[in-house]
Amino acid sequence: MASTTSKSERNRGVIESYPEFLPVSASTPVVSLGEGNTPLIYCSQLSKRVGRGCEVFVKNEGVNPTGSFKDRGMTVAVSKALEYGAKALICASTGNTSASAAAYAARAGILCVVILPAGKIAIGKLVQAFAYGAKIIAIDGNFDDALRIVRDLGESGDFAIVNSVNPDRIAGQKTAAYEIIDEIGDAPDFHLLPVGNAGNIAAYWVGYQEYHAYKRSTKLPAMIGFQAAGAAPIFYNRIIEKPETVASAIRIGNPASWKQARGAIAKSRGAIDVVSDAEILAAQSWLAQHEGIFVEPASAASIAGLFKCCDSGEAAYSFQKIPEASRIVCTVTGHGLKDPDLTIQRMKELKPVSATTTDVRHAIGL
Ligand code: F0G
Repeated sequence: MASTTSKSERNRGVIESYPEFLPVSASTPVVSLGEGNTPLIYCSQLSKRVGRGCEVFVKNEGVNPTGSFKDRGMTVAVSKALEYGAKALICASTGNTSASAAAYAARAGILCVVILPAGKIAIGKLVQAFAYGAKIIAIDGNFDDALRIVRDLGESGDFAIVNSVNPDRIAGQKTAAYEIIDEIGDAPDFHLLPVGNAGNIAAYWVGYQEYHAYKRSTKLPAMIGFQAAGAAPIFYNRIIEKPETVASAIRIGNPASWKQARGAIAKSRGAIDVVSDAEILAAQSWLAQHEGIFVEPASAASIAGLFKCCDSGEAAYSFQKIPEASRIVCTVTGHGLKDPDLTIQRMKELKPVSATTTDVRHAIGL
């Protein structure tokens, strides 16, 4: 079956687009919401910022059906769970996994239980889990505690775990790497992305390696992951007991795919680095205001990381010396509207003016 997708095939979903690369068969009941095939956007302002004739693309995963990259993995995990006869799904989440699991469970007609750190989930994501009808349990603990409980409950056999510890999730998520190669004709030289539980960086690396083995690409990218400075266990090489960052999606102190992420970084000759909350928020605004792409704070870690690679002598990977005309892809993982609180705080109060053209002209500053 052909694995490339054209615009007319847009909403096929990742299983129908790439069945030969996924653990599915004709008897797998496909649960899809038309995920994947997300825009790979050439960014002229970002490219200018990097300079040296480099091309920067943003893979905008925020336009997936529930607004994050999780949908790629969820379609496979939920379809396989149905195939195995699961009656209920369970996951721990910093928000996006729960939104995605809830939606795909609704579509599959099965129960979804989500275990969340109380008070730590961005409002849009919590709203999604409620709207899709998940059973939501908030715990007095962080994501790492929630995942521990989910693993315990998964052992009882009552639930299918749909966190990225489930290999079907990783299988689905690797399709983003295929799409990039299908679109630009080869792998990029560098791939930058945020790192939390570390499933996604591992998944992209699997995808790049597989396509390379099938000779769909001539090279492999250097994988460069960015953690928030207050939640950077891989960078510091130790469990962080109380991770803290404004980027709530990646507030994780003991990532499940730690080893796989380390492997991807080492084998690809990439790097792991940290970005501060201030750098994350500045990059979020910059991307919205210079490229028209509004992402949630965690997603902006890849853009903050790009800036660090270009500007800072402290960066784990310096772009000062990269070959001219390198191709760089930054994944932005989730939509900005999911987590609008900090942007709302920055908004000035809107004071109405009288409904006359003169006063409106004046208010515009004309
Ligand atoms: N960006 C966003 C928007 C996320 O929601 C996550 C993870 C990541 C990046 C990091 O990806 O975990 O594969 O390294 N969110 C998970 C969740 C943990 O529960 O929604 P990762």
